[in-house]
Amino acid sequence: MLTKPAIIINCKVYSEVEGVKALHLAEICQNIVDETGVGLAICPPMVELSYVADSVEIPVLSQNVDPRKPGSGTGYTTPSLVKATGASGTLINHSEHKQPAEDVGTCVQMCKELELITCVCADTVDVAKELAQFSPDFIAVEPPELIGGDISVTSANPEIVSNTVESVKSVDKGISVLCGAGVKHGGDVKTAIDLGADGVLLASGVVKSKDPESVIRDLIRYI
Ligand code: G3P
Repeated sequence: MLTKPAIIINCKVYSEVEGVKALHLAEICQNIVDETGVGLAICPPMVELSYVADSVEIPVLSQNVDPRKPGSGTGYTTPSLVKATGASGTLINHSEHKQPAEDVGTCVQMCKELELITCVCADTVDVAKELAQFSPDFIAVEPPELIGGDISVTSANPEIVSNTVESVKSVDKGISVLCGAGVKHGGDVKTAIDLGADGVLLASGVVKSKDPESVIRDLIRYI
């Protein structure tokens, strides 16, 4: 389970988290969760998924999953493989790894059958509303143009957050809505929550920082 408000840290494939460095970041998160009880989850690089999931107790999520059953399919990541690593869930349809809506639905369904947490990403309010029909656990709205930048979606485009919350909840009240792109500080997390979100999905603010622990402690400051 992922406590809300949820802060999901996507490691992407930054050099700062190659090899054992992904585990070091996961251990920092684990220590903070042990101390504070906040809802932190981490998405390590795919090749580190099993190793990290095996080593910490916080939710570890895959960065992607493919709508494939076990069998022939070289290089694909099946929901079944994700489950077998001990990971708790997966991102689906990140804007850097998009899938057709039909495949998103298949992935969500396959993950639900395996009791994996599903966090579906969407670029826009309309896409978020469309993908809400699949009833994932989380929908994370992230305007692509703000990803990796220094301006948080919560300041640059607060309407996309509140409108996504409203649209998604109009389809399924049970879906938790996250926002992401440019989130760096505790104030951004607070604004996200004030706008109705259940947390944030972020990457560079933590992963590329020289002091990820301080950044995470700042992110949870108002929670
Ligand atoms: O998955 C999180 C993401 O796309 C946002 O990235 O670097 O803007 O926090 P970033």
